[in-house]
Amino acid sequence: MQKTLIVANWKSNKTVSEALEWITQFNKSFTENPDKEIVLCVPFTLIYFLKKILEEQNNNIKLGGQDVSAFGEGAYTGEINSKQLKEVADYVIIGHSERRVNFREDDDTLFKKVKNAFNAGLTPIYCIQDETTPVPDEKVIIAYEPPSSISTFSQEAKADDPDKTEIIGNKITYAHDIAGFLYGGSVTPENVSEFTQKEVISGVLVGGKSLDPDEFIKIYENA
Ligand code: PGA
Repeated sequence: MQKTLIVANWKSNKTVSEALEWITQFNKSFTENPDKEIVLCVPFTLIYFLKKILEEQNNNIKLGGQDVSAFGEGAYTGEINSKQLKEVADYVIIGHSERRVNFREDDDTLFKKVKNAFNAGLTPIYCIQDETTPVPDEKVIIAYEPPSSISTFSQEAKADDPDKTEIIGNKITYAHDIAGFLYGGSVTPENVSEFTQKEVISGVLVGGKSLDPDEFIKIYENA
């Protein structure tokens, strides 16, 4: 059986000292469940720091980036390439709505990012906004996140209907060879199980509620 993936997307939040507070609080009540896996997708400045802490604690939590360069090594000021990211992380979110909208990332650029990430040995978590979003050929994890459900996009955001998510998940898994299908958008401790109990949904991508370690642990426990 595939493990249920609980992925945190911290977005552009937390300093090193705040990340330390988060992990300290998290460790107070976290009990590992062998059927579930946590991935913390954090800002680049925090990945190495958290990697060292997690290694010291000998715990099984995985790390991920929230973006990666479409280019390789070289003269690309400001970019983090997939080889650099793979040194410190196993996963990378690619194609999040916030990057598509705020940074005008198009399918072409995103597919290059996937190719580079995949070749470097990272597992891409590729965000799609609906069933018409193009999906790359590589065997990626798909995260279905309708923009109207993303809590940090709009105060009126509401989680998707789990039955609708299930239908989309079935269509996507039928049409593409993917490594998993996640749901993301206003996931809470109260609604997470409505998604994860569906066979086609292999986990969740959590934004706002991942910033609070206690809420995140509740999501992990209820998933
Ligand atoms: P949300 O964000 O959980 O705050 O809705 C999800 C995301 O943007 O990945």
